[in-house]
Amino acid sequence: MDEGTRIGSYSRAQHDGGRSMRILVTGGAGYIGSHTCLELLGAGYEVVVVDNLCNSKEESLRRVQELAGRNLEFYKVDLLDKQALHAVFESSPVNAVIHFAGLKAVGESVTDPLRYYHNNVTGALVLCEIMGRHKVKNLVFSSSATVYGDPSEVPIKEDFPLFATNPYGRSKLIIEEILQDLHRADETWNVSLLRYFNPVGAHPSGRIGEDPNGIPNNLLPYITQVAIGRLPELFVFGDDYPTRDGTGVRDYVHVVDLAVGHIRALENIISGPGVVTYNLGTGQGYSVLEMIAAFEKASGKRVPYKIVARRPGDIASCYADPSKAEDELAWSAHRGIDKMTAHAWHWQHDNPNGYGEP
Ligand code: NAD
Ligand code: UFG
Repeated sequence: MDEGTRIGSYSRAQHDGGRSMRILVTGGAGYIGSHTCLELLGAGYEVVVVDNLCNSKEESLRRVQELAGRNLEFYKVDLLDKQALHAVFESSPVNAVIHFAGLKAVGESVTDPLRYYHNNVTGALVLCEIMGRHKVKNLVFSSSATVYGDPSEVPIKEDFPLFATNPYGRSKLIIEEILQDLHRADETWNVSLLRYFNPVGAHPSGRIGEDPNGIPNNLLPYITQVAIGRLPELFVFGDDYPTRDGTGVRDYVHVVDLAVGHIRALENIISGPGVVTYNLGTGQGYSVLEMIAAFEKASGKRVPYKIVARRPGDIASCYADPSKAEDELAWSAHRGIDKMTAHAWHWQHDNPNGYGEP
């Protein structure tokens, strides 16, 4: 049985006051997970990470600890390995779980749906089973704005109809429904479903950020790789959408704001609200051309681009009504497009090969 690799353990003496909450972060070595671990450590939580490193590197966690000046516990464990996950809960009891671990590439989910359903849905089932066995019933789950499909209007509210357009999105919808059923069966479960819009940017230190494998699917990592010279030019997918300049409009949200949103959701979940759902976005949409212009201004680099055909499955416009999170979690995004693009560039510039070898 693989019980994982422990790379550090938090010394209680470093903490300035009595008992603190222990949080398990699945997928904590990944992009959003690593930024959230840093915020958790900064807020005084003890952090236990479970990640199989299928889409991340242990280096991200080393840097999180360096930035926080505190350690976390890391277990290299696959969520599908029930025995190993049970062993983590035995040796590192926690009060709540933030569940990031999952596969997230939309195109790959279309060509390899079984892998996506197995990893994402079975992974969530195994996690919930082990949580229940250990009487840990507080869960914050990474959902996505993709569960709204192609919305009939914007901004999007939490009670809009839900629809999946690909297996990745369907895996998120299925997990949301499983978690609703779990609470119906046992009301002591508390679950926060966080529907992220488009997470971008990096920690302002430039030490942690997004490190996609291969050619990026998402806009801002593609732009930064063009700017650093790893890719020759950006392809803009369509300029004939019914938007202000014809290119797709999205609600880009700074990853540090998103990470803070998880702390707010955690504080709220511990008060016992049952199942709650929140949009995490800024409420402001930007087009692809506006993102390019903002990046060029922030970085001083030119980003050559070519308009090409629409990408299948893309929608014209998607942005949040984030007022529910504002009202109930006292959360809103503070970092604008200038910081999103500047911090993405700082990270890319200082780490041209991400966490890999220089
Ligand atoms: P990421 O790939 O950087 O992080 C996910 C982490 O989960 C990785 O470190 C990976 O190694 C780990 N993982 C995957 N399967 C695992 C398994 N079976 N066992 C253990 N670890 C496993 O992705 P991210 O951008 O940080 O996204 C985090 C979560 O947020 C995902 O669930 C994703 O679907 C969701 N989300 C992301 C976006 C986005 O655009 N980044 C948007 C909406 C929702
Ligand atoms: N775009 C380009 N060129 C590129 C990449 C993207 O023009 O090389 C455009 C897209 O057409 C879209 C916009 O930039 O108009 C944003 O595209 P992303 O791929 O960055 O993001 P999406 O909105 O398509 O999808 C993201 C995540 C999904 C998630 C969804 C909703 O990748 O996982 O947000 O949260 F489901």
